[in-house]
Amino acid sequence: MTSAQPKVALSLIRATGRTHLGNYLGASRSFAELDARDDISCIFGVATLHSLTTLGDPSALKRDIRGVVVDFLAAGVDPERSVIFDQTAIPETLQLAWILSCITTAGRLERMHHWKEKKDKLSELGQAANVGLFTYPILMAADILGPAADIVPVGEDQLQHVEFARDLALRFNHLYGDYFKVPALLERAAIRVPGLSASGKMGKSEGDKATLYLSDEYKAQWKKMKVAPTDPARVRLQDPGSPDNCNIGKLHGVLDAMGLHEEGGLQWVREGCTQAQFGCATCKQKALDVMEEGFLREVRERRQEVVARGDSYIDEILNAGNVAARARIQPVVEGAMQAVGLITRWV
Ligand code: TRP
Ligand code: SF4
Repeated sequence: MTSAQPKVALSLIRATGRTHLGNYLGASRSFAELDARDDISCIFGVATLHSLTTLGDPSALKRDIRGVVVDFLAAGVDPERSVIFDQTAIPETLQLAWILSCITTAGRLERMHHWKEKKDKLSELGQAANVGLFTYPILMAADILGPAADIVPVGEDQLQHVEFARDLALRFNHLYGDYFKVPALLERAAIRVPGLSASGKMGKSEGDKATLYLSDEYKAQWKKMKVAPTDPARVRLQDPGSPDNCNIGKLHGVLDAMGLHEEGGLQWVREGCTQAQFGCATCKQKALDVMEEGFLREVRERRQEVVARGDSYIDEILNAGNVAARARIQPVVEGAMQAVGLITRWV
């Protein structure tokens, strides 16, 4: 059998500060899995331009850009195998985004969940949403179509954007002839990690107390787990509860679905909880230990090694990655420009 061209997996992460368990289980962990496969070649990026849709402190952004690269490496992405680049280094992506914006209706963008949520949240704060937030999905589609990605691993909150990129590829191909590769829809259901306190998912909106950061030491992580609310029915040790009414119970479910629990581990949680065989502290300890042994320790140690090598190590990786990513994207974008009737070379 001849070996086929490896498929290309592509994903970018916005530079927004510390990564938490939700980011890791929802996305970064699968990046490392894809990186390790010989039939897939990976391109990972820092979505620096998307980060600008929520303009903040420029020095914080500078720091967080390198932080995203540290996250990729800490998750287990090998820079010798995968390309790691900065979105800003590929001006062609913006050219493509413009072309794509000219085949997108405003109505289509108005229907995106992400836009509606962001816009409403801002208006609650008495602020108006910027146009960058509105056209965000077009730039993301350009990120995806530029390198002709086959697979786009993302967390569940980004699935609609990947679908949008597919639609744009199909629309372009319909208008200008078969040109763009249409990325696949994810086969695997995206993972949703519950926050430690309220009912929502883990992340910024849930606040620091409900969020387990990967860079934290075990002790700090345990401190957060210890005070996390559980099924309110479990007032005393002998009161039975249900893992379905508890975010720690749900977390156990996620860990089991990812194959991190040992055989019967989830059953142990359910029985222990519904039959009041142990207290919530035991159950929480189990969750944290499964994570510590499964990935937290390894990720923490890798992070320390990477950070110890200094900024110059990160910058070298980005420099090489930027060149490689641009070499792949530039001809694809040039072809798209020609397809719509633009002239890209005057000789
Ligand atoms: N919008 C994504 C997020 O907020 C980041 C992103 C930008 C991305 N471009 C992408 C993800 C291309 C996958 C592919 O998480
Ligand atoms: Fe939640 Fe576990 Fe307590 Fe049940 S025993 S309420 S699943 S922490």
